[in-house]
Amino acid sequence: MKIDPNKNTIVCGDNIDWLNWIPDESVDLCYIDPPFFSNRDYEIIWGNGYELRSFGDRFSGGISHYIEWMRPRIELIHKKIKNTGTLFLHCDWHASHRLRCLLDDTFGGKNFRSEIIWKRQGAKGLASTRLPNNHDTILYYTKSEKFTWNRPFSSQDPEYIRKFYKHVEEGTGRRYQLDNLANPNPNRPNLTYEFRGHLKVWRWTKEKMNDADRQGLIYQKGNGVPRLKRYLDENKGRPVDTVWDDILAIQGQATERLGYPTQKPEALLQRLIKCSSNPGDLVLDCFSGGGTTAKVCSMTDRRFIIGDVSPVAIKVSAQRLNSKSSKVSFEIKNVPKTEKELKEIDGHDFARIVCEYMGWKVNDKKTGDRGIDGWDGNRNPIQVKNHSTPVGRPDIQKFHSAITSEKKRIGVFVAWEFSKNALEYIATLKQNEDIEIIAKSAFDIFKDILIPHAKKEEIDRLFEKYDYSDKTLPQSA
Ligand SMILES: C[S@@+](CC[C@H](N)C(=O)[O-])C[C@H]1O[C@@H](n2cnc3c(N)ncnc32)[C@H](O)[C@@H]1O
Repeated sequence: MKIDPNKNTIVCGDNIDWLNWIPDESVDLCYIDPPFFSNRDYEIIWGNGYELRSFGDRFSGGISHYIEWMRPRIELIHKKIKNTGTLFLHCDWHASHRLRCLLDDTFGGKNFRSEIIWKRQGAKGLASTRLPNNHDTILYYTKSEKFTWNRPFSSQDPEYIRKFYKHVEEGTGRRYQLDNLANPNPNRPNLTYEFRGHLKVWRWTKEKMNDADRQGLIYQKGNGVPRLKRYLDENKGRPVDTVWDDILAIQGQATERLGYPTQKPEALLQRLIKCSSNPGDLVLDCFSGGGTTAKVCSMTDRRFIIGDVSPVAIKVSAQRLNSKSSKVSFEIKNVPKTEKELKEIDGHDFARIVCEYMGWKVNDKKTGDRGIDGWDGNRNPIQVKNHSTPVGRPDIQKFHSAITSEKKRIGVFVAWEFSKNALEYIATLKQNEDIEIIAKSAFDIFKDILIPHAKKEEIDRLFEKYDYSDKTLPQSA
């Protein structure tokens, strides 16, 4: 299977598999919020077998086991990120210390940029023998020294404005704060001069200072030291540092709230995504939960590849992206299917699905081409049949002539079943004409994503339970 980095994609499945389907060095920014190695209540979100299996994989041997579970995934992410790309790994105290070492190993210690503390507001519980935990950690790494960086500024909340922009200019009503004009470096002879009765090392040259004075930007109380007026309406906000306390965790009444415990606020993702990517860039989230990353990408004009092991998470994300507030086109890949469902797919669509899944080139022509549906990496022709009855000798005979017209000696025929006659004909061709037709079972191709009917019913029931907005699940390819 392949994932096209130019399309928005939602993938269902264990990321250890599907990260391989993304082209190397195609991702500009990756945000991940993996299960934290915390307690069970926060780990099992969607409650289905897929997630439980992943939970079991991580937890069977304590924190070291968890880190070794994460390691190959982080290595894959590193491979998929462009040389100018960034990773944000969202975690908490349970494993942040070990994850940082893991990222030093994969991304290199010199590419560590920051440890962001996101203060959630409102501790998770009252710890009696230690301090209550009230923050998550976001580890920020880049792949190299050259990376996208748009400095983030905090929004100007009313309390901040009252505290830091105390002064109001008479006449205009503009709010401002007073800033220091002195130079912190005492050894700058060319910046040392007398200004408004004060001999000092100033921040600017005398010309620039006089210019600012003429524009009314210098404030002086009596004979005091002159200071610079900085207007609120000219300020982008406060440059953000490593402690983020201005973004609240999702509140009970928030419209974005879907109702599962680990959902992250869109404002948090907005800040990270805008900081380290530009419109049109590709963002990856391979532990995507309810799809917050994709939602923010759709609002900020970025492309996305997101995915989760849980089919329910995939459904929730798809519904969220299909909502009235955010309509964006995307493709869903790899949702588990039953054999019966696959057999019901139209022949052309089925052929395309098989070719894409195998990484073969799809023949986009719907007619002609002697029934060739695609070509493998060596340009050997492929034919796919989604017949409920076994493929017979006449089908193989037609494919044989298609192979010869393509001047090839090998071809691949995919079907659920082959008749005895068909298999005998294939054997004769090999013996007499040295033409090899590989009879490939569709069941073998899809066995990793095929699920028993009963399991499918379990998923459907879960889907119903989490049916937040509408009844349609976009059909998967
Ligand atoms: C903490 S949640 C992510 C929440 C997300 N940031 C949001 O805002 O909704 C972690 C997610 O990782 C998923 N997950 C666990 N193991 C996985 C795996 N091996 N591959 C893909 N997803 C996995 C879980 O199903 C869960 O939805």
